[in-house]
Amino acid sequence: MTNLGVLVSGNGSNLQAILDATQSGILQGMARVALVISNRPGILALERAQKAGVKSEVVLDGENTDDFLIARLKASGVELVCLAGYMRLLGPAFLAAFPEHVLNMHPALLPAFPGLHAQRRAWEYGVKFSGATVHFVDIGVDTGPIILQAVVPVQDRDTAETLQNRILEQEHRIYPEAIRLVCQGRLVVSGRQVSVRAD
Ligand code: GRF
Repeated sequence: MTNLGVLVSGNGSNLQAILDATQSGILQGMARVALVISNRPGILALERAQKAGVKSEVVLDGENTDDFLIARLKASGVELVCLAGYMRLLGPAFLAAFPEHVLNMHPALLPAFPGLHAQRRAWEYGVKFSGATVHFVDIGVDTGPIILQAVVPVQDRDTAETLQNRILEQEHRIYPEAIRLVCQGRLVVSGRQVSVRAD
C-alpha cells in the first residue's frame, strides 16, 4: 500500500478523484491518502478530506515551508506526493526528499501553456486541441517529464469555462491512472522520456 500526500490550494476536485480511486476505484488496495496539506485555510479541498476521513493540515506559506512540509509528510509515512491545484512552487530540497515521487496535474497539453490560467489562455489563443498533462515535478514551472496526457478537442461552441470543465473530466481520469503506474513501479524515466513497462 503506497501512502499518498496530496497538496491542495482550492476546490480539490482532483483530490476527490484520487480519494474516490483509492476508496472504490483503480487505486483500491494499492494506495491510500495518508495526508492532505493545504496552504489556504477554509477551502473546499479540506472539507473533502474531512468527509473522506482523511487527515489534513494547513501549512501556510512562509520561510522554511519546504522543510516543514517534508517533516509533516514523512511523519505520515508519505511516499508519493501529488500536487492537486497547489499554488506554490516547491524547491530543490523538497524534490530531493521525494526523488521521482512528486507529481503534478496541469490543465493543458504541455509544453504548451505552462503556468496559470492555462485553459483560458489556450482557448483565447484559438487552439483546436487542448487537454491535461500529468508530469513529474522538477524545479521549473510545469517542465518536468511527462507521464500521461489526455487530448480534449476544442469545439466551436466552447467557452473558456466549458473547455475547462471538459479538461477537468480528463484530469480526474488520468491522475489516478498515473498514480497507479507509479505505485506499480512501471514507469521508466530516462531524461525527458517516460515509458511504461508492461504489466
Ligand atoms: C486543476 O485544473 C489542475 O489541473 C490545476 O489546478 C486545478 C485544480 O483544480 N493544477 P482542483 O482544485 O483539483 O479542483
